[in-house]
Amino acid sequence: MSVQIPETMKAAVLRDYDKGLEVEEIKTPHPKNAEVLIKVSACGMCHSDLHVISGSIEFPLPCVLGHEVAGEIVELGPGNEHTGLKVGQKVAGAFLMPCGQCEFCAQGRDDLCSTFFDLNRLKGKLYDGKTRLQSLDGEEIAMYSMGGLAEYAVIPSTSVAPVADNVDPVAGAILGCAALTAFGAVRNGGDVRYGDTVAVAATGGVGSNIIQICKAIGADKIVAIDIDDEKLEAAKKLGATHVVNSAKQDVREAVFAATDGVGVDIAFEALGAPATWKSALDSLRDGGKMVPIGLGAGVQTADVEINRTVRRSQSIVGNYGARTRKDLPQVVKLAAQGDIDYKSIVTTHYSLEQANEGYQKLREGKILGRAVVDMSL
Ligand SMILES: NC(=O)c1ccc[n+]([C@@H]2O[C@H](COP(=O)([O-])OP(=O)(O)OC[C@H]3O[C@@H](n4cnc5c(N)ncnc54)[C@H](O)[C@@H]3O)[C@@H](O)[C@H]2O)c1
Ligand SMILES: [Zn+2]
Ligand SMILES: [Zn+2]
Repeated sequence: MSVQIPETMKAAVLRDYDKGLEVEEIKTPHPKNAEVLIKVSACGMCHSDLHVISGSIEFPLPCVLGHEVAGEIVELGPGNEHTGLKVGQKVAGAFLMPCGQCEFCAQGRDDLCSTFFDLNRLKGKLYDGKTRLQSLDGEEIAMYSMGGLAEYAVIPSTSVAPVADNVDPVAGAILGCAALTAFGAVRNGGDVRYGDTVAVAATGGVGSNIIQICKAIGADKIVAIDIDDEKLEAAKKLGATHVVNSAKQDVREAVFAATDGVGVDIAFEALGAPATWKSALDSLRDGGKMVPIGLGAGVQTADVEINRTVRRSQSIVGNYGARTRKDLPQVVKLAAQGDIDYKSIVTTHYSLEQANEGYQKLREGKILGRAVVDMSL
């Protein structure tokens, strides 16, 4: 099967922090070894992008952001003989793109892939040390993950998973970060088991998915903590058994009241701020585990009560993304089965031209669940 691929495409490019994202016509990229090109159907809007857009997390400019995508494969690079990937296949793309060859990847720790960190997260390149994106006059444009806020995106083959026909190609975009990160946090970081009690501090795009994955696994009590009553109402529909508004209630008191006075086995933190670290740590039972997944705005610290942590044998286990090659197919399966209700989490759609406006709303805390850029708009 061959597909017509135009020579140029639209992409939301970040060149200037004051101007934010600007839609430009740039050269359509093409895949190299062990990569695929997808026609993007939608790209989710994640809180992590806000840190780059504001400059609080350093990243080279100009760049194209967008790291949770769904789309259709339109071109295969060489070296895809054993991947089973085909032109025409619908896929979800993961933000955490393992190289498949470093020491961590060899151990199955895609989440720690050093090539991904060094070349993509720090430099905006793929694994031959080059970006695939160029302006019309040949200037290099960095890629944050695959640079999904564009009509087409190159992704390493390790980082796409075929999706079933019944998976919505627009809402399905959130599988590759919001849902994948949540799955990694629950499965790898928290190791949540049937009957465990959990708390989730901050129930935005990622936190909402943690709630429903904990429910799917059979967590006994799921306490959602946020400062926005509308988000807490939505959390109840996704499976939260108790909700706590931390702007109005004492978190420790409320969580202990919900858990027969003992606190939760596992507390997730999904914002990356001192206040939510405190909420998560205050929710923990003796011997409990706190799993922070929120990224701070640059170098940020949070307080940890020394004696409580030591005397009550509590642990803090950070978790970044998930083990893409193993976990992304599981996330896609959970979505196809309806265990991850990704469709109801996506509440807001923007066109590529409206991406800036959408991130502004996200920054103001006005997005319920997740917003996506829908390339058909
Ligand atoms: N570890 C990873 O792999 C990974 C991956 C994706 C995102 N992230 C990070 O996860 C975090 C969440 O991302 P998101 O896209 O879900 O964000 P989001 O903007 O969708 O949600 C943030 C939520 O925090 C709530 N909130 C704000 N202040 C609060 C407070 N003081 N107490 C409780 N809740 C509060 C908001 O009401 C909102 O519901 C971000 O820091 C992001 O960078 C990490
Ligand atoms: Zn993300
Ligand atoms: Zn690697």
